[in-house]
Amino acid sequence: MAVANTWRQLAVRLGIEHPIIQAPMAGVTTPELVAAASNAGGLGSIGAPYMKPADIVQFARRVRELTDRPYAINLFAPQPPPAKTDPSRMLAELARYHQELGLEPPRPPSSPLPSFEEQVDAVVESGAPIFSFTFGIPPPAVLERLKARGMVLLGTATNVREAKLLEAAGVDAVVTQGSEAGGHRGTFAEPFEAGMVGTMALVPQVADAVRIPVIASGGIMDGRGIAAARVLGASGVQLGTAFLTCPESGATPAYKAALREARDDMTVITRALSGRPARGLANELTEAFQEEGAILPFPLQHGATGPLRNAAAARGDPRFMTLWSGQAAALSRGLPAAELMRQLIAESERLG
Ligand SMILES: Cc1cc2nc3c(=O)[nH]c(=O)nc-3n(C[C@H](O)[C@H](O)[C@H](O)COP(=O)(O)O)c2cc1C
Repeated sequence: MAVANTWRQLAVRLGIEHPIIQAPMAGVTTPELVAAASNAGGLGSIGAPYMKPADIVQFARRVRELTDRPYAINLFAPQPPPAKTDPSRMLAELARYHQELGLEPPRPPSSPLPSFEEQVDAVVESGAPIFSFTFGIPPPAVLERLKARGMVLLGTATNVREAKLLEAAGVDAVVTQGSEAGGHRGTFAEPFEAGMVGTMALVPQVADAVRIPVIASGGIMDGRGIAAARVLGASGVQLGTAFLTCPESGATPAYKAALREARDDMTVITRALSGRPARGLANELTEAFQEEGAILPFPLQHGATGPLRNAAAARGDPRFMTLWSGQAAALSRGLPAAELMRQLIAESERLG
């Protein structure tokens, strides 16, 4: 009974029917994906961390044309400037791959992240009712500004300590990111190893430690995972990988094909793509740059590998593409997002 109540309460707080969230996914969320998830009674999220402010406003406008339901916008919390590092070793390593693909030699990278303050202005202008974030906690003034506009705030935690810090900062709910999750690790209060806690262990410990609702993410792909998260103490769930193979997702055909062939043991955690640990399907790029100290700090490594990753994506060459994926990608269904959401709702309700 208590379980059903918190589930309902979070849905009401978010203004939706079912607290099942399509995860924000930088680079692959499209307005169609976000709107389909929201229209089906869940919550769609715009993964906007790398978007320029004007693009955030434009993207949100398109979402609003497709749905009048709530949706979320997600950003990375601001990061300290990367330590000064000599990029020459990385550029030399990258040059071999550039040559292999017939690209111009790599250039010294710059940060690919737009100004956080200007992105926040765009979030406010967009009128989105929900703001989610990862990689840290935005400054108190930003959280207060968004709260004053009535926005619901969702912060990402990868262990109990981070969940408590988010609660103390005044967020409305905490998204737990289990170690199974695809994409970047959100860990911010400790070295990333301290945030490698699986969903089964993380959700009940966070639910016991904080009074705000917990939204479970990491490895959840179907009604079984949703029902399990609920029993563990979650008031909602967030699914990323499950939505990557939807026709509305912006993942390229080669990316979707790789996900269709994925098995449970085919992902790795790597810093090679962006400089920050992230989980994705293993390919040549995730295994590159093994030499100690060659990888640049985030986000410079992301900037440095960008031309190679983009060229590979354009050619459908999975060897050098970004293939973020959770550990349960093999359970992907490839359904349209609305149908996937309907099935997730029906399955989890059947399981109680
Ligand atoms: C391709 C991809 C991109 C992601 N980008 C973001 C992002 O921009 N912001 C964010 O908070 N989380 C991001 N995540 C992490 C998700 O929010 C979520 O933690 C994860 O997808 C849950 O695990 P699952 O993939 O097993 O469902 C991303 C995940 C994937 C797979």
